[in-house]
Amino acid sequence: MKKIAVLTSGGDSPAMNAALRAITLSCGYHQLQCVGFYHGYNGLIDDQHVDMQNLNINSALQHGGTILKSARCHSMLSNEGVMQACNTLRKHDIDALIVIGGDGSLKGLQAIKQHWKRQVIGLPGTIDNDLNGTDNTIGFSTAVTTATHAIDKIRDTANAFERVFIVEVMGRHSGHIAFNVGIATGAEAIISFENFSKDQANIKVNEILKAIEKQASTHGSFLIILAENLWPGGAQALKESLNKQGQLNSAMCILGHIQRGGSPTPEDRNLATELGLASVDAILNSKDNIMIGKCSGTVVETTLNDVINTPKQLNTGWVNAHQEQLTYYLK
Ligand code: F6P
Repeated sequence: MKKIAVLTSGGDSPAMNAALRAITLSCGYHQLQCVGFYHGYNGLIDDQHVDMQNLNINSALQHGGTILKSARCHSMLSNEGVMQACNTLRKHDIDALIVIGGDGSLKGLQAIKQHWKRQVIGLPGTIDNDLNGTDNTIGFSTAVTTATHAIDKIRDTANAFERVFIVEVMGRHSGHIAFNVGIATGAEAIISFENFSKDQANIKVNEILKAIEKQASTHGSFLIILAENLWPGGAQALKESLNKQGQLNSAMCILGHIQRGGSPTPEDRNLATELGLASVDAILNSKDNIMIGKCSGTVVETTLNDVINTPKQLNTGWVNAHQEQLTYYLK
């Protein structure tokens, strides 16, 4: 009987559990043994494992987080850590390893592949949506939905006070969350990696202040979506600059980790389920060294190398056109 191992790694993302469920059920159907390793790669290094058939996998479907727990594993950056992970795979006579995680996790999988000759399959699990080889990553839809709902609430109080509000969203170093949330909430400004560089901070403050001045006549609020890790000093510094230079009482909110949790959207659950089933099929079809994603409605396989070394482009074309047209009155 083939033995498949699975783990979730890096920043957890909603619907990782749905992927685990699909993998476990598919293994049962195909009479494969399925072993889960806890705490990301740490569990592989320390050999903390569980027979997935013994977990109450069905009831995890609607919950965020991951029943296998997750972690960022610094030991995987050393040869020693990678070798130890490979030794555990050998000890359990694992035939194939599935890792659900983001780019760092898939790099870890590539490192394992160099020392362990059996099959490795990656699934895109991150809220950031920054992986080439899939239109959406598992968890992205939920993060955008959660942020949108939270910002709608902020908009109510911002409208009541005709106030400027800065909301900082996650995304690590890419603007998929920022732009999608910005359009969904009708933000007057979106500041992200794709349209801003740190040396433009002063120019940007002046630009925003001009737009705010125009907006004042509409008696509305002015919402700025800011990508994290971007503005020098973060949302607090932007708020202080606007308040000082524009004599404003703007407020800010960092949405933070609420974007990582919560009940996954049906879209995320179904994507995770489809990719989870496809990962077991790929193993049965002797596929190796790939990540499985979904592009234009079709399940696609991309080599780990292409996923890791090709940055995913954000289509800023449509975003800019929308933003231009939807905020034309500010120009
Ligand atoms: O990769 C997911 C993510 O939530 C990013 O959006 C964010 O930059 C990072 O993880 C935060 O990581 P941590 O929870 O380790 O601080």
